[in-house]
Amino acid sequence: MGYETITVTQCTPNIGAEIGNVDLTKPLKEAQVKEIHKAVIAHGVIFFRDQKIDFASHDRFVRYFGQPHEHIGGDYTASKRIPNFPGIRKQYFDANSARVAGEDWHSDQSYGEIPPTFSILYQEQVPPNGGGDTMFLSASKAYEELSPGMKAYLEGKTATHVGGKSFDKIPGSRPAVVHPVVTVHPESGRKLLFVNSSFTSHINDVPAAESEHVLQYLYEHLKRPHWQMRFRWHDHSIAMWDNRCTQHMAIWDYWPNVRSGYRMFLKGVERPLPA
Ligand code: SIN
Repeated sequence: MGYETITVTQCTPNIGAEIGNVDLTKPLKEAQVKEIHKAVIAHGVIFFRDQKIDFASHDRFVRYFGQPHEHIGGDYTASKRIPNFPGIRKQYFDANSARVAGEDWHSDQSYGEIPPTFSILYQEQVPPNGGGDTMFLSASKAYEELSPGMKAYLEGKTATHVGGKSFDKIPGSRPAVVHPVVTVHPESGRKLLFVNSSFTSHINDVPAAESEHVLQYLYEHLKRPHWQMRFRWHDHSIAMWDNRCTQHMAIWDYWPNVRSGYRMFLKGVERPLPA
């Protein structure tokens, strides 16, 4: 389980690791890419410090793992495409922001038929006195800690996921898709809970009240501190997370300060697999 080309320092027993001995402003060696991939599969989310990347380096890093995925849905004030790099979005929040991206728990674009596998977020500027942390949770560990009775109840169930507020400008345009409630990660083989409070509207084929109560229970269970962590950004930090087995939430506690960065997604290759 060792690493030869990078250093990997776990943040918590169940989620997160900080990666060292790598310079993402320069092309990487194949062995480094393999070990970074191994680390993100093992820990769900990995972090890099002091990486002053430009758009080309960001794009190059993503392409080591597959193809960029273009965001489903339009621009909004705080999250916009940039010229020449269709996979990069600028996430800029300041005193004039009405909202910030990702303020409730979610996995990115779970309302897509094939959601993005990884997200790679680079922060260029973070608030001067702290704030703007991102929370992450392990949906695999959360699943593993459910009771046998709850696991049996969830087996074979599906849920509907619906696109978020960024679709409101175009009435009727919110995408909706059905995914299994429990999926299996195609690379780690671990089962996980694939429902989130931002985009999952209901569990299918059960009464509405039952769906609501079960989802509430699962959301509370998912966000237990035992399998979550909080990442404190610095200028030029990067986080790379696996949307197939983690959820995250951005904390907007820094108004009126500026938090500004760039995010890319990695295109998924298959629908979430039923467990
Ligand atoms: C997101 O949910 O896409 C943004 C996360 C963050 O800004 O910390």
